[in-house]
This record gives sequence, C-alpha cells and structure tokens, in this order.
Amino acid sequence: MPSGVTMPVVLIGAAAVLIDSCGTGTAERGVGRNAPERVLRAVPGCEGCEAAWEREPATLGPRISLAREGEPGEPLILRGTVYRADGRTPAPGIVLYVHQTNAAGAYAGGSSESEWSRMHGRLRGWLKTGSDGRYEVRTIKPGQYPDRREPAHIHITVLDQGRDPYWIDDVVFAGKAGVDAAYRAERQNRGGPGIVTLARAADGTWIAKRDIILERQPD
Ligand SMILES: [Fe+2]
Repeated sequence: MPSGVTMPVVLIGAAAVLIDSCGTGTAERGVGRNAPERVLRAVPGCEGCEAAWEREPATLGPRISLAREGEPGEPLILRGTVYRADGRTPAPGIVLYVHQTNAAGAYAGGSSESEWSRMHGRLRGWLKTGSDGRYEVRTIKPGQYPDRREPAHIHITVLDQGRDPYWIDDVVFAGKAGVDAAYRAERQNRGGPGIVTLARAADGTWIAKRDIILERQPD
C-alpha cells in the first residue's frame, strides 16, 4: 500500500457527512443552494484508506463477494479470523475494506461513485467481522500487474472503532511470481503475515486463509 501521500477530501453522493478527526463521528455540511455533499476526510500517510468509510458498518456482514457472476478468473475464497492485539481474542465488528486487481492485473471497471471506486476498480468491497471475528471474501485470484513489479496481491484496509483506518500487509501467494526472499525480507508483517498458501477445494476453488492481528489502540 503506498503511503506518505495526503489526498484531498473526496466528495461523494448527495448526503452530507463529515467524518470527524477520530473517524467516529459525522457532521452535516451544507453547500449553499446546491444539494449538500458527502465528505470523507483523507487519512494522512494512508492513501485511499478513507474508502473504508464509504459504507455504514451497520449495513455490513461477515461475508462478501467481490466478483460478480461471469467475472473472468479462477474462483478464490479468502477467509480468516481477526484478533485483537493480543493475537488470541477474536475481534467482532471490525470493518475490512478489500480491493484487488482483476485477472489481467488491472484495477478496471470501477464506478463513478467515488475517487476510490474509480481508482480501485470493480473488485472491491466491505465486510464486518462476525461475533467470532471471522470473515470471508469470495473473489477471483488477482492477476499480477502487467509490468510484474509486484506479486499478485489483495489489499486490505482495517477499520477498528475509535481510530483511523489503516492498511495491513497485502495478501500474496506463497510460491507465486514475485514472492521471493527479497520480497519476504521487506514485509512488515503489519496485521500478521500476509503471505498465504493456496489450497484447492474439490470443486477447483482456491482457498486462502489470512488471519489478522489488530494494532493496539492508542492510549
Ligand atoms: Fe495494488
């Protein structure tokens, strides 16, 4: 996940919502005679992380499908459990924003809903961990960028209550192109290891497990 870039606020839709400095509150803002606009505050050092705020957590469940029927590619189920910082206590109610390339390695086919719906393409979505901390994403195996500069990967942004959203290590696939010693050495293990092993179910679907350990809440 690129970092260090502060983006301008994103104007979305017709409702007026201003995320407050803790990411926990909202405020209305009118814009004269025009319909008010929804404003998502950029997250310093976390380009695009504000996309995690694009859905109301109360509307989300623990399982989502990023890929619609007919999406080209090999079916993949990514699942895991989100734990608190102790690495043992399941964390319910955590929002994950997930986005990835299509099978051709492109962030393509996005909608005009927001800056990040355009930038992240059509394979994106939001979920909220269940009471057991578990989540599941049905998608397709992402393709590598055409320039091969990175392994094929899935981005996950975490939204924990009371703090700004933050990125964790991308999901990448052990044994695949680009997941070599140099790549492994550069990993931060943010959120726990993101290098997963693919297994194949009887119907041919790829299965990957990526548990996530939350960062400690600031004092
Ligand atoms: Fe990417």
